[in-house]
Amino acid sequence: MGLTLTEKILDDHLVEGELEPGDEIGIEIDQVLTQDTTGTMVWLQFEALDLDEVQTELAAQYCDHQTYQFDFKNTDDHRFLRSAAGTYGAYFSRPGNGICHNVHKENFAAPGKTLLGSDSHTPTPGGLGQLAIGAGGLDISVAMGGGAYYVEMPEVVNVRLEGELPEWSTAKDVILEMLRRETVKGGVGKVFEYTGPGAESLTVPERTTITNMGTELGATSSIFGTDEKTRDYLARQGREEDFVELSPDEDAEYADEIVIDLSELEPLIAQPSMPDNVVPVREVAGTDVEQVIVGSCTNGGYEDVLPAAKMVKGREIKKDIEMIVAPGSKQAAELLAREGWTAEMMAAGVNVSEATCGPCIGIGHVPASDSVSLRTFNRNFEGRSGIEDDSVFLCSPEVAAAAAIKGEIIDPRDLADELGDLDAPGIELPDQYDGSKTDLITPDEAIDDELIKGPNIGSAPIGDPLEADIAGEVLLKMEDNITTDHIIPATSDILMYRSNIEKLSEFTLSRVDETFADRAKAADGGVLVAGENYGQGSSREHAAMCPLYLGVEAVLAQSFARIHKANLFNFGILPLTIDSDTYEQIDQGDDVEVVTDVAEAVQAGEEEFTVRVNDDWEATATLKASERERRILAAGGKLRLTKQQYEEDS
Ligand code: F3S
Repeated sequence: MGLTLTEKILDDHLVEGELEPGDEIGIEIDQVLTQDTTGTMVWLQFEALDLDEVQTELAAQYCDHQTYQFDFKNTDDHRFLRSAAGTYGAYFSRPGNGICHNVHKENFAAPGKTLLGSDSHTPTPGGLGQLAIGAGGLDISVAMGGGAYYVEMPEVVNVRLEGELPEWSTAKDVILEMLRRETVKGGVGKVFEYTGPGAESLTVPERTTITNMGTELGATSSIFGTDEKTRDYLARQGREEDFVELSPDEDAEYADEIVIDLSELEPLIAQPSMPDNVVPVREVAGTDVEQVIVGSCTNGGYEDVLPAAKMVKGREIKKDIEMIVAPGSKQAAELLAREGWTAEMMAAGVNVSEATCGPCIGIGHVPASDSVSLRTFNRNFEGRSGIEDDSVFLCSPEVAAAAAIKGEIIDPRDLADELGDLDAPGIELPDQYDGSKTDLITPDEAIDDELIKGPNIGSAPIGDPLEADIAGEVLLKMEDNITTDHIIPATSDILMYRSNIEKLSEFTLSRVDETFADRAKAADGGVLVAGENYGQGSSREHAAMCPLYLGVEAVLAQSFARIHKANLFNFGILPLTIDSDTYEQIDQGDDVEVVTDVAEAVQAGEEEFTVRVNDDWEATATLKASERERRILAAGGKLRLTKQQYEEDS
């Protein structure tokens, strides 16, 4: 039986497990990327590994989300990130150089390589045949330390594209059609592999628009094979040597097949407030619009802005609309400026912004209250634009520009009929992507060789190897359904301390008991007791990192939420399950001792542990863990394990 392209790349990088859907596999990572909001903790964790330099072929640090610097914390973060990249041998992309996915695609994305990134749209370079996956910050630090990345082997689904896109239909409409059919849950546990004559007809920038938004389907990744179009794109970027021919075997077996005839696609739009709430544009034509934005990692490339620029050239944006163009990268911005397109857009009334994520996450250009904003972005979750009850539609640059010209949502084909002189702009690549590289600092050009930390940047806690004894006071007894928000609130006034664990840990479980952090510090650690479903909600790693910092050694709960349990293992905290009788009997302030030799039992695969309470009565607690999770726990967490493995190998 032949292999899919995804299987071939995974097979080339496999270090543990079998390529059986649903099984856990470990893969070697070639490249990593991180951005400013997740990057600080990634580097603090890497610092805790005590290595001299990153172990992957390539690491790149981007500054894209918060480039408008509100106060010294942003600027300090950027300086710290520059110093970390310099110290450990990573590329550093300066604030204003663009969005991580765009700049990575332009400079580093390489067919057949694996890429792990601490941002959910990391799969973008799948359009160039790279297998790229988004992951948590700790996974990135571990990969940079030479550790494998563990993931559930996905099902590989063939998305067969037939025909060619008609005028005014775009790659954005292909992925919106996927979302319309498959919904935001349709890709969970899957990689979408795009094949067929329709896939071959698309340029690389069009392919990356599709792979970028595979994230909205919930997919592990999305990928295209490579061909002359890939080679041509790489050549125009000045790095043809990165080209490798890649395709699935002719007899590859897929878990499923989806067929889309591109020639039947019409301009589509996602209505508020979910990317899968997709209808043809004509169904919402006439909707009043106050703001139009072209940009983001989905449609911020030169090839995305150019069609909008061609459409508005020589015309005027309606006076009651603000149209903003935020190029995805400085390369795109520079090319557009050199070719005169920036001046044309400005003359038409466009507000040209710096290359940043900004408005995509509500930083700048927040829509007015009770108004419609039309954006070429990938997400329109309620409130993401920076205002509650927002009304954000997602569409192609062509549909966005048409609305800016007309003053309301309109199918661009109808606008073309109305105006009589509006041609479909199509897609056009520059002869050479020859922007300056001034803002991309190579490891050789590094400015710093030691970390520069401002007052809001601390250190990452690292667990100690598991010992024979775990004993301490029950610091807090909690009810059912404690969320990671209860453990570490996600409000911006608290999360601003995400790189300052000493400060952030003061807020640990403060929503349940304001005195918790002080008591935990005074007691020098202890254990937590909880009811059912402990740690549900967001995957926030800080919800395990802060308790570790405060010395929490074990959590005894009736049940755990899956991701938080994995995070407890990753940070070396023992998650034991107790029954309802034990939960009822145990009280806050009790002394708890795990009688079993914990270190030995965890490594021996024991599931049952005896817990003695107040030296008075005993109960049985259970540890359900895979072999790998036991290894992590015994080592004192994932960072400590990576450090040990590196020391053993060198
Ligand atoms: Fe940035 Fe929005 Fe993409 S925040 S990385 S432009 S999804």
